[in-house]
Amino acid sequence: MTRLGKLFGVLLAIAACALPSAVLAQQAGDSANAQAERRIAQPGNNAPVWRDVKSGEANYTGIPGRETGVLIQEPLKFPGQSAFATAGEAWRNFRNGPLMFYGGWVLIIAALGVLAFYLVKGALKLKEKPTGRLIERFNTLERIAHWCVAISFVILALSGLTILFGKFVLLPVIGYTLFAWLTALAKNLHNFIGPFFVLSLLLMFVVYVKDNFWSAGDGRWIVKAGGLLTGEHVPSGRFNFGEKGWFWIGVVLLGIVMSVTGLILLFPNFDQLRTTMQQANVFHIIGAVALITLSFGHIYLGTIGVEGAYQGMRAGFVDETWAKEHHELWYRDVKSGKVAAKSGGSAAGAPQTQH
Ligand code: HEM
Repeated sequence: MTRLGKLFGVLLAIAACALPSAVLAQQAGDSANAQAERRIAQPGNNAPVWRDVKSGEANYTGIPGRETGVLIQEPLKFPGQSAFATAGEAWRNFRNGPLMFYGGWVLIIAALGVLAFYLVKGALKLKEKPTGRLIERFNTLERIAHWCVAISFVILALSGLTILFGKFVLLPVIGYTLFAWLTALAKNLHNFIGPFFVLSLLLMFVVYVKDNFWSAGDGRWIVKAGGLLTGEHVPSGRFNFGEKGWFWIGVVLLGIVMSVTGLILLFPNFDQLRTTMQQANVFHIIGAVALITLSFGHIYLGTIGVEGAYQGMRAGFVDETWAKEHHELWYRDVKSGKVAAKSGGSAAGAPQTQH
């Protein structure tokens, strides 16, 4: 008898003694009988025990909690899989197969798309000279909320991608020692920054939601696609329709998906089933790919894509020319006093857009 066989013999004996129900005792007895017969017919082959273990049926355990009596989950089929495997194996195949393959390609194609756009169209520059007069575009609280979300998002994206693709992409290049160190760092960063990201998102929602509802000018912006391809000027309010889309789809919808699934994965001590964690992992990965893909567009437009945009979020002020050329309706509201916004006075000492 192998050591494993002996171990299972002992475990089954303990389980049989402790079982409160006669039915379970009967089942264990049947299994033990089947195993005893098998031991004579095929010594060393303890298939009946493993068949029981892999059935997903709950057996006795002294550990309290849901599913603690199940050593291996029941057989299951994930999308795209031809054969049944135990649920854990089916999830693993799905994660390491279609999710990684298509997710990886979506990210690569999106990054190349943004690069191609930049190479063809170049940065969007101001048409007129900056006036030197500045308008406050984002107050301190708005900037704190933005940078808390942005910085934690970048850390989560980089650490998450390391956990997801690292074993296949980084390990062969950097070797085991460095990879083990890097992944442990990524995992701990991800675990601690995750809750901070959730709280920052809540703050961001509260601070920005008022300017992200449908408003006059959005219809025209959609028809003209923001003038992104033609270069035509399309007046918009404080945020244009593209920015509003990023807010509702990226920040709100995908933010909720990432937060809820992330918290399910981060705190497995709330009695959730293994299936729930596997599904959470699948939606976490799909959400991550979607959010990172969209973020490429946002980060591009907020940095090298649109001249002066980054300065606005960094220092809080934009030049009047910038305001007029990018958010004309908002600019008019500020000038007419309809919308309160601090004036930055002259450009001296304050960050400016350049021509
Ligand atoms: C928007 C930001 C986020 C992105 C882009 C992201 C991305 C990822 C990715 C790609 C993985 C790897 C999945 C795998 O390898 O199977 C992952 C794992 C994980 N994420 Fe996130 N995530 C984000 C937010 C969060 C949040 C807000 C939390 C928690 C509150 C969280 C908690 C976790 C946990 C616990 C894991 C499992 C880590 C492990 O395998 O040990 N994530 N994330």
